[in-house]
Amino acid sequence: MTARIIDGKTIAANLRADVGRDVAGLPFQPGLAVVLVGEDPASAVYVRNKHKATLEAGMASFEHRLAATTSEADLLALVAKLNADDKVDGILVQLPLPKHIDATKVLDAIDPAKDVDGFHAVNAGLLASGRPGLVPCTPAGCMRLIASLGQDIAGKHAVLVGRSNIVGKPMAHLLLAADCTVTVAHSKTANLSALCRKADILVAAVGRPEMVKGDWIKPGAIVIDVGINRVATADGKGRLVGDVDYEAALPIAGAITSVPGGVGPMTIACLLANTLMAAKARRGA
Ligand code: GUN
Repeated sequence: MTARIIDGKTIAANLRADVGRDVAGLPFQPGLAVVLVGEDPASAVYVRNKHKATLEAGMASFEHRLAATTSEADLLALVAKLNADDKVDGILVQLPLPKHIDATKVLDAIDPAKDVDGFHAVNAGLLASGRPGLVPCTPAGCMRLIASLGQDIAGKHAVLVGRSNIVGKPMAHLLLAADCTVTVAHSKTANLSALCRKADILVAAVGRPEMVKGDWIKPGAIVIDVGINRVATADGKGRLVGDVDYEAALPIAGAITSVPGGVGPMTIACLLANTLMAAKARRGA
């Protein structure tokens, strides 16, 4: 048997088209502000893609590119300005931030109603207590990919490898809300491979190329690979791989996401969905 490949590209394109149709019917134009501090090349690519996708969905995009030397006070002042700007429905501060800036302080300065990343303590708390709020985009995208399979996941054992605030922790709450039994594993977890083999749903979000081996996967499991790692190749161009050994997992898993083309495209699509949701809530639409 070979795994069903979960086509994140198509599912994301459909969601973006849905958001675009919804935006076209609104009496106002939702706006997303993205703030990039410094010149991290991967972050610059993400920000460019977000800008393009925002415009394609018919929303206004406000880009703020600041020097790596920008002070924390200046960044907080920009966040305050965006909080007060009526044209701005969503604010995203691209991470990572330079070391001299306290990221938590900046994220918590964003108006929770405009926090389309869902990283503000208020939104994190709402999610943890099972109440409606803005949900982080990558785990929200993973849930949509799982839902696309049309399987009943209640009572299934989900194992998350990775406990970050961006993916692992919010994903745990989303899977709990979907009635899964959830285990959050991390770098200090003992017998990780044996634990993974018990997973009906395995979510890998550790940022280590192909760490999850084929024989870590329970036959028929749903495998969601959040990792995007560039590894060296003989031609010097490099190649993107996930946190899962995809080729080895393919004959064992029941369904699997690829890298690229799996979770990645969902993150931006969910960001647009969050911006639309924030805009409607804030403007009473
Ligand atoms: N850096 C990596 N992923 C993310 C994300 O989802 N949001 C933000 N703001 N920064 C990131």
